[in-house]
Order: sequence, then structure tokens, then C-alpha cells
Amino acid sequence: MSATLAPLPFSTPSLTPEEIANRFVRLRQRPVAMEVQNLGKRFQTPQSASGKGGEAVALNNVNFQVYRREIMTVIGPSGCGKSTLVRILAGLEQASSGRVLVDGKPVDGPGPDRGMVFQAYTLFPWLTVLKNVMFGLSMQGIGHDEARSQALQWIEMVGLERFAENYPHQLSGGMKQRVAIARALAAKPRILLMDEPFGALDPQTRAQMQSYLLQIWQNVNITIVFITHDLDEAVLLADRVCVLGAADESHPGGHLKTIMDVHLPYPHDVDVLKDPRFLEIRRQLDELVHPRRPLALDRLPIVKMTQRGDEVG
Ligand SMILES: Nc1ncnc2c1ncn2[C@@H]1O[C@H](COP(=O)(O)OP(=O)(O)OP(=O)(O)O)[C@@H](O)[C@H]1O
Ligand SMILES: [Mg+2]
Repeated sequence: MSATLAPLPFSTPSLTPEEIANRFVRLRQRPVAMEVQNLGKRFQTPQSASGKGGEAVALNNVNFQVYRREIMTVIGPSGCGKSTLVRILAGLEQASSGRVLVDGKPVDGPGPDRGMVFQAYTLFPWLTVLKNVMFGLSMQGIGHDEARSQALQWIEMVGLERFAENYPHQLSGGMKQRVAIARALAAKPRILLMDEPFGALDPQTRAQMQSYLLQIWQNVNITIVFITHDLDEAVLLADRVCVLGAADESHPGGHLKTIMDVHLPYPHDVDVLKDPRFLEIRRQLDELVHPRRPLALDRLPIVKMTQRGDEVG
């Protein structure tokens, strides 16, 4: 079973570098949708054999702003605190220090202003697609007929109208994530928080979902914070890319390295993947996330088992 995705309704217009730069001036003039101030998070680590528990610094003094209707992607090495950050933004986790503001108001728990889509499929398996999407609406006190009608519109928006009466196990991974997006959007959040939502999908479905998300975003007034491991995905989707770094000699925990404006013609579509400017931005991000370090092969005992000069292959 598969559902056909509509082709992208836009093509990349040719913009001058000045026009692209002006876009970022205008972006910074928009109202701030979400602000992260001096955010820190420490976790207690389990007791070791010697009986001592410790503390792990997941995030250390992170500051940034997300502007209204922006797509900000967040990248960084494994364990640098990306999921912790997005869970704090969602109000699912408490910060140890600092705070998060949504439209100027401090976040103190989950709220209808923020929707969340995770990597793991989180649909209720015992409910149909329609009932999954209706669930949040019913929880908000919306009557059955109105909830059904709104849910059907969102299901149509993600191209799954033929599957409204199917159960999650009858859907592909991509289709399940489209239901998860429909379910999150149905609650009309102002901000959509996504933690590697396409991470479990095959590359082709993932590419379709990226186009799909850009199309939805064009049609819905929403700000998106999108965590990913995939640098192509980070650049393709983003207005700006937030780069987090892991703990190192100068930082006790996950920290903000930089926020990079994606200076590419807009709106992005898959053609942008071939643009030399895209490749240059991607190269710079790769350098930030995976800094080149000299190989420490001589320190690996297994290498010493091989004589230098032996033929390989
Ligand atoms: N509930 C928890 N208890 C203790 N430590 C935690 C907890 N959750 C996360 N951590 C630690 O916080 C750090 C950041 O974890 P987090 O899951 O946010 O990283 P991440 O950037 O999302 O990694 P990945 O790219 O692998 O998903 C890690 O060192 C992790 O071990
Ligand atoms: Mg994570």
C-alpha cells in the first residue's frame, strides 16, 4: 500500500545574493516565537561500583531565538544534548538553569502552543488514523462531529484521506509519520518540535517527507524546530541551522557552537542539493560537527597485529 505525494508546487526562484541576505534581515525583524535563555541541564548519573553517583552536564548555558514562521534545524554529534533540548522546549523535561519563553511567556510544562513529533512512531495502535488525529481534538473538548471534520482536513493535508480508517500497523513508516504530523498539527500549535522524525525512514521516503514538510509549512502558519543527524536534511529544510557541540576541554557539556544562516534561494526544494552554495554550507557544517582530528591508529592494539607494508585487498 502506498499513497502518492503531490509534486512540489514551487520551484526555486533565482535570487541575487543581496536579495537572499535581505531575507535574513527581515527574518530577524519578525517577532520571536521561542527564546532559550542561559539554558542548562544536569542529570544525576547512576552510582558506580565505588558507590559514588555523579552529575552529567547535558546542556550548558545555551542561548538562541527562533523567529516566527522560521524553520530552525538543530545538528550536533551524538550525546550533545539535542533531544534533551527539544524535550525542555516541549516542557517534557525541566531545565536545571535558565528558561524557555514562548511568545514571551516562560514554559513550565507541555502546552497546546507546542506540538511534538518524535523519531519513534507514537500513534495509538488500537485507534484508526482518523481516531488518532481526532484524539487531541477531543481532549481539547471539541465535539465529535467538529473534531472528525477537522481531523479529516488534516489527514487530507498529509495526503492520507484513503487511509483514514486504517490502523497504524497497516501503514508504512512514512505514512505513520505523516499521521503523527497531522495529529500534532491538528491541535493547532504555534510551534512544531521534531526530534529526528524521519530518522527511521529509508532514504527515498525520507526525501519525500522532506518535500512534504516544506509543502505543509508553506500552507500552515507554524514555526518549526527540527533535530536531525543528517546534514543534507538540516540545510535543505532550514532557514537557519543551530549547531550544538559536545563536551570538550573548554565546555563541561553540550553547548551552542554557532547558528548559521542558510544563504540559498528560497523556498528550498530538492534542486538546491546540487547548488554549489549548498555544498559549501554543508561542508562548513560538517567541519563544525565532525572536526578533523589526527588518526590515533598507532594506539589501537589491533593495528599492531598487522605488519606495516602488508598488502590490504
Ligand atoms: N534521563 C537521563 N538521565 C541521565 N542522563 C541523560 C538522560 N537523558 C540524557 N542523558 C544524557 O545527556 C546527554 C545528552 O543526551 P541527548 O539524548 O540529549 O543527546 P542527543 O544529542 O539527542 O544524542 P543523539 O544524537 O544520540 O540522539 C547524554 O550524555 C545522555 O547520556
Ligand atoms: Mg537524540
